[in-house]
Amino acid sequence: FGRHLTVLAKTDSTQTEAEKRAREGAPEGTLVVAEEQMSGRGRQGRVWHSPPGRGVWMSAVLRPEGPLTAVPQLTLLAAVAVCRAIRTVSGVEAGIKWPNDLLADGRKLCGILLEAVIEDGRVRHCIMGIGIDANLEESDYPEELRDKVTSLRRESGAEVDRSALIAAVMNEFEALYALYAESGFDPIRSLWESLSVTLGREISVRDARGERRGIAHSLGTQGELMMQTENGAVVPVYSGDIELYPG
Ligand code: BTN
Repeated sequence: FGRHLTVLAKTDSTQTEAEKRAREGAPEGTLVVAEEQMSGRGRQGRVWHSPPGRGVWMSAVLRPEGPLTAVPQLTLLAAVAVCRAIRTVSGVEAGIKWPNDLLADGRKLCGILLEAVIEDGRVRHCIMGIGIDANLEESDYPEELRDKVTSLRRESGAEVDRSALIAAVMNEFEALYALYAESGFDPIRSLWESLSVTLGREISVRDARGERRGIAHSLGTQGELMMQTENGAVVPVYSGDIELYPG
């Protein structure tokens, strides 16, 4: 991973750039990194704020074998990989909020977006987008985001070497991806659970079925979040966003 590398000064979205390369036959592990994105994309159709020079904005081409159910599992695998890389390179003990946001002190410092291109019921390729607020400063964020986000620099008090961080993410991902191919999702699931800041917490889920409240109980075998509802039943949550309550 990361051996076929393109670094762009400015682009609309590294997702779009990597997708274009995937369609042209780029091999698995092809990576596109940008200093700045003009229209960075987040999950659920949101905008990803990507100012120049201080973040890590990158997208990698994945060509997973296997069924469609691998896609949510890969998003969780990616979160584990980035979490481990961040700890190694910056010492910041980030935790994972389901499915794949990384938080420090309850504030978001990294988001992951996995987009799959499906053809004839099979995954043709996936684009794994990772946005890490490496060295962003308070003034880099729009006013309304400032109390919800943080950066590695702010948490560790030191400038992070972005190239070292990118290399560490690629190495961690490659190792976990190989583990996943060999041993399936179970070991990834345990790693995810040990890095989670979600399990055991009171949450609310917003998805196509509206808003529900409960306790985050565990991670299911497919990567779904198992939530204990007020009447004691444990129900799966496959997609959507959750909110963590303080505590
Ligand atoms: C989220 O938390 O909503 C996911 C954010 C993903 C952002 C990254 S930055 C690199 C890549 N290019 C994009 O346009 N988005 C992803």
